Amino acid sequence: MVETIQWTDGGVVMIDQTKLPRVEAFVTCNTYLEMADAIQTMVIRGAPAIGVAAAMGVALGVLKASPSTLDAEFETICATLAATRPTAVNLFWAIDRMKKLYATLRGQSIETIREAMVTEAQLIYREDIAINMAMGAHGAPLVPDGKTVLTHCNAGALATAGFGTALGVIRAAVNSGKKIDVFADETRPFLQGARLTVWELQQDNIPVTLITDNMAGHFLKSGRIGCVVVGADRIAGNGDVANKVGTYGVAVLAKENGVPFYVAAPISTLDLTLTSGDQIPIEERPSTEVTEVFGVPVAPEHTAVQNPAFDVTPNRYVAGIITEKGVAYAPYEISLPALAAKE
Ligand code: MRU
Repeated sequence: MVETIQWTDGGVVMIDQTKLPRVEAFVTCNTYLEMADAIQTMVIRGAPAIGVAAAMGVALGVLKASPSTLDAEFETICATLAATRPTAVNLFWAIDRMKKLYATLRGQSIETIREAMVTEAQLIYREDIAINMAMGAHGAPLVPDGKTVLTHCNAGALATAGFGTALGVIRAAVNSGKKIDVFADETRPFLQGARLTVWELQQDNIPVTLITDNMAGHFLKSGRIGCVVVGADRIAGNGDVANKVGTYGVAVLAKENGVPFYVAAPISTLDLTLTSGDQIPIEERPSTEVTEVFGVPVAPEHTAVQNPAFDVTPNRYVAGIITEKGVAYAPYEISLPALAAKE
């Protein structure tokens, strides 16, 4: 399986997702500032993966901080990492978890605090893989045998500590013996589908076909697609789902054509403090992602651009939300809090 991120004695090593699939290069972060930069520049991306990266970033920060100013530095470390990207709630969830642990360690020796922070970050990493495998087990039965699964963006091993959320469901379905193949939307403008999902599925020999985003409707109408499975960056308490921009259009087209649209996401992606997806902050990314393709201009100079990185799919389009604790169905206001509270 692809190693997305790893804590090593020489620093946190990550595969550089800005360079895939042309080059398999690795970036090593030794400071929390380097980690904040890696998250912001999308060396590492995908909601659960940036949660793990942020936790490891906090641990790196604590390792390097001066014991005499640790409390103040800790606040700065957490605030810096939290300011990297606004939409995926897993980032804030992971930082909060590190903060809560830190609060219990007050008065302990610096060695104890450092060790506890590193151990917690590694635990978040290991738990994420286990969560994805559990999600896969819950989601695999929903995938129709002998059909094509359509996915958008990359919600795979690369977007998590390993195995993936949406691609974890697909992997689990394949492992259970189902004969399926995958259609990957290219996912303009950052091309996570073309660059990352196709590369990742090819590593596992799972049959994958690349389509441009505007072909999704054509294939959803054709009868070939058995279901859509995507990941999520934040899910409001009512089941509205923020995911990579373009997801909403796919969901509407799926419903129009009677194809179930599933979302696979860990409980840490739920934001039960929000009653509607309208409250989810949507990241606006640089205009050059739209006006250029790999540095080559594709629009006239000074073109006005909008580049929201995510959109929100209203809950009525969502056939089910696959989590590590089971599958939630509408009404999500009831099923999501119940799943979150489940032991
Ligand atoms: O901008 P990105 O690449 O971080 O966006 C990623 C997505 O939208 C994924 O679909 C989502 O984070 C789920 S990843 C398991």
